[in-house]
Order: sequence, then C-alpha cells, then structure tokens
Amino acid sequence: QRLAILLSGRGSNMVALVQAVQHGVLQNLAEVAVVFSNKPDAPGLETAAAMGCPTASLSSQGRKRVEFDAEVVEVLGHYQPDYVVLAGYMRILSPTFIRAFAGRILNIHPADTHQHQGLHAYEWAFENQLSETKITVHLVDEGLDTGPILAQHPVGLQGADTLSEVERRGLAVEHFLYADTLARLIRGELPATTSEMAATAAVS
Ligand code: GRF
Repeated sequence: QRLAILLSGRGSNMVALVQAVQHGVLQNLAEVAVVFSNKPDAPGLETAAAMGCPTASLSSQGRKRVEFDAEVVEVLGHYQPDYVVLAGYMRILSPTFIRAFAGRILNIHPADTHQHQGLHAYEWAFENQLSETKITVHLVDEGLDTGPILAQHPVGLQGADTLSEVERRGLAVEHFLYADTLARLIRGELPATTSEMAATAAVS
C-alpha cells in the first residue's frame, strides 16, 4: 500500500513510519509514495529526503484553504497514495480534501479524542495533572479530531513532573502505535467494524 505522509514540522512520527516501512512492522506491507509538507522549510522534509523518501511541498502561507487543498490533492494524486497519513500536519483539511481520499486519511492525536481535540494536548494533560493520557489513531472526517477511532494506547504519567517528560513518554507511544495500527489496518486485522467505520467516514 502506498503511503503519503503529510507533515509541517520536525517529523518524528514520519521517521518512525519510514523506519517501520524500511525494516519494521510495515515492511512488505507499505511503501512511502511521498512525504509532503505545506511548509517547504519543515525540518521533517529534509529528514525524509535523507532517509530516501520522495518529497514534495507547497507553501500554504497566505493561501485560501479550499484552493490550497485542491492543489495538494492534485500533487498527491501524482503519487497515487492508498492512505494519506497525517503526521503533525498543522492544517485543518477542507471537505474537498477529505472527500478526495475519503475513509483513507489517518491522523494521530496525542490525547483521547473523546476528551481533547485540537492543539496542545500534552500541555492539557500536564496542566490537568492526569495520571494517564491516551494516544489516539483515528480516521479523519470533516470535524476536528472527531473521526472513528482505529486504536488507542495509554501513556502512564505518574511521576512525569515536566511537560517535556509528558511529551517524551507520549511520543514513545506515538512512534510505535501509528505504524502498528497502519500495519493492522492494511492486514485487515482491525475489528470488522473498522471497514464499516471507514465507509461511514467516507460518506459523512
Ligand atoms: C505529534 O505529537 C502528533 O501526535 C501531533 O503532532 C505532533 C507531531 O510531532 N499530531 P512530529 O512532527 O511527528 O515529531
């Protein structure tokens, strides 16, 4: 299966996914069709190129969402992705984009999406002194972090007394959970309801 990985920043989740494709759980299941960024100077883009991935970018600065997304859909179309994998892609996707890849867009959110949506999820967990948070991998629908959940994994936060420690523990879970969930999705190992969920995300 061909993956288009989208990022805007440092790309640590992208690195974990590429490593999983190259010699981990996604080996022989997936290939990286392209790593795309809306920020041409995103550090993750350079890292992806250094890891041997095709890369592409289009600057979203000052662009209207719908027009920009239409161009991104066209660019990604050249790479014929089976899945669009958001990995720190800091844009809310327009309905046009979501419909173009309906039911095939995944996101990772560093909290339980039932409890927290949007930015600063680790700050939220830290400030509320949660003893545990959850990492969520979900399908993307037209809401903000509202799509059907594919997988969740707990992160113990006992004794995590700085924000960077909360992030360190969370990212360690993110990095295995995203690749693991994609592998299970591609293998058809997620619960049968998942394909129904994908169909639901596709039409809603
Ligand atoms: C991660 O915490 C991810 O869950 C969130 O954005 C962050 C991206 O980090 N959606 P990175 O660029 O993958 O290092």
